Order: sequence, then structure tokens, then C-alpha cells
Amino acid sequence: MGSEKVSSSFVNETTLVLIKPGGVSRGLIGEVTRRVEARGLTISGMKLINAPRETVETHYAEHRERPFFKDVCDYLTSGPIVAMAVSGPNAIKAIRTMMGATNPIEATPGTVRGDLALTIDDNLTHSSDGEESAARELGLWFSEGMVK
Ligand code: CMP
Repeated sequence: MGSEKVSSSFVNETTLVLIKPGGVSRGLIGEVTRRVEARGLTISGMKLINAPRETVETHYAEHRERPFFKDVCDYLTSGPIVAMAVSGPNAIKAIRTMMGATNPIEATPGTVRGDLALTIDDNLTHSSDGEESAARELGLWFSEGMVK
């Protein structure tokens, strides 16, 4: 058997998770937060809000020219959402992997979307895709700062 050096290094990170209106109306706040905490991550900020249109448009600014931009902004402002700051070792990648592929039909069973969602328009959650977007999105949704 070959020996392989496995690095145990990790970075403590904080990332943004949104539970979209479909997740809130289906009563899945508890299911999503349970999975996040069971993984060992810490919820360091959390609020239930009716998101201002301007905040949602700024959040999705990189998609402004995409055909789904208006629909995704309409959807995110159609009902209450949960905004969460989630912290822990490699939190950005850990959360992205837990949530599964953006299109739920491609998402692996065991992931949030693979277990609980079916369509890309209603894919339950959003999570930051890297360090830069996490910093930008946390600053947007938690301009007042996190609780811990
Ligand atoms: P999210 O991770 O919040 O980022 C952009 C959102 O736009 C995405 O999840 C989907 O909910 C939505 N969306 C709708 N159609 C598409 C598409 N074709 N490609 C990517 N995202 C889409």
C-alpha cells in the first residue's frame, strides 16, 4: 500500500447561507439548521426577514445579465427568508458540499438539495461560493455584524 501524506490543516471561515422562501414556507428552517449544527458548524448570526429588493439585487449582481435574474429576485422577495452566518473549519466548502449541486436534480442524495429539493428555481438555499463572495455577502446581509 502506498503512503499518502494527508494534510490536516484547515482554516476557520464564516460563510453566508440563505434559506429561500420555499424552504421557510415548507417549514424547513429546523431541518437545514439541524444539519448545519450536526456537522459541527456554528451559527454565528441568524435572522428571519422580508428581504429588501435592493439587497437581493445587490446580492445577485453578478447574474444581472442572466435570463433568470428577474425571476430569482422576484422569488427571493416573495416571502420571508432566513439569513445565516455559519462559522467553522473550512465552512465555505463544507456548506457548499452539504447543500449539493445548484440544480437539485443533479444533487447527490444526502445533501440538502438532493434530499429536499427538485427544481433549480426553488433550490432551497443559497451559500457563498468562495472567500471573496462570503466576505461580500456577509457584509451585505449582516451589515450590523454577527452575534458571535
Ligand atoms: P443560487 O445559489 O441562489 O444562485 C443563483 C440562483 O439563481 C440559483 O441559486 C438558482 O436558484 C437560480 N437559478 C435559476 N435558473 C438558474 C440557472 N440556469 N443557473 C443558475 N442559477 C439559476
